[in-house]
Amino acid sequence: MRSEEPVSMPRHVAIIMDGNGRWANARGLPRTAGHRAGVERVRETVRTAAEAGVKYLTLFAFSSENWNRPKEEVSDLMGLLRYFIRRDLAELHRENVRVRVIGCRASVQPDIRALLTEAEDRTRDNTGLSLVIAFNYGSRNELARAARSIAEQVKSGALDPASIDETTLASYVDTVGIPDPDLVIRTSGEQRLSNFLLWQTAYSEFVFMPCLWPDFDRQAFHEALAEYCRRDRRFGAVSAPELAVGS
Ligand code: FPP
Repeated sequence: MRSEEPVSMPRHVAIIMDGNGRWANARGLPRTAGHRAGVERVRETVRTAAEAGVKYLTLFAFSSENWNRPKEEVSDLMGLLRYFIRRDLAELHRENVRVRVIGCRASVQPDIRALLTEAEDRTRDNTGLSLVIAFNYGSRNELARAARSIAEQVKSGALDPASIDETTLASYVDTVGIPDPDLVIRTSGEQRLSNFLLWQTAYSEFVFMPCLWPDFDRQAFHEALAEYCRRDRRFGAVSAPELAVGS
């Protein structure tokens, strides 16, 4: 997109929901209270995204590195995901939301795996917002799994190594069929990607918000969207005014 065109609403917003633990600590509460408050923000954020005309919303719910947290916290996060899907799936479906899940399912508890599959199957034909839940997700793991699948295809003779290009790789990552994020938001003031969508964010815009995830309200989301709209996306090219100066 050239800079003379106003940047429109992002089609795909991806969010690193950070700061639940600090939010709880600041209130003298257990970290799990922060995660619970975080789920309320998830609900509100899904509604705000749909109202704003965002088509894809990806939420980093549990990373492949989060297993290293204390056992009780991991178990609480699993419980919250179960609770969210059991409690909210019917409403998401009514609201025409399509749920997709990215990440490695192999090492996830069978009941959670079944819930994730149920959420995807039940909402498969919905045409509204696509809610992409990154669960047991890590980008390096995703890329390693993609490389393994491609190698298997080559080994079986189904794929010619000379034909492998960027489009091939894009069709083996978990996000196949989902456009790359236009905007990545991270809350809590941290400014890093933490192994999130490394391949997909090559040309994404990043907005780092100082607020902690349980404080990320409708207004904060709109501020991030407004900041995105002020950006000049060039995708490696030059902006139109610069071209005019050079000609
Ligand atoms: C980061 O805060 C947040 C997480 C690791 C989990 C995010 C999960 C939820 C909001 C709830 C479940 C999600 C869904 C989609 C139902 P942190 O614990 O790293 O905070 P800290 O950096 O302040 O310690």
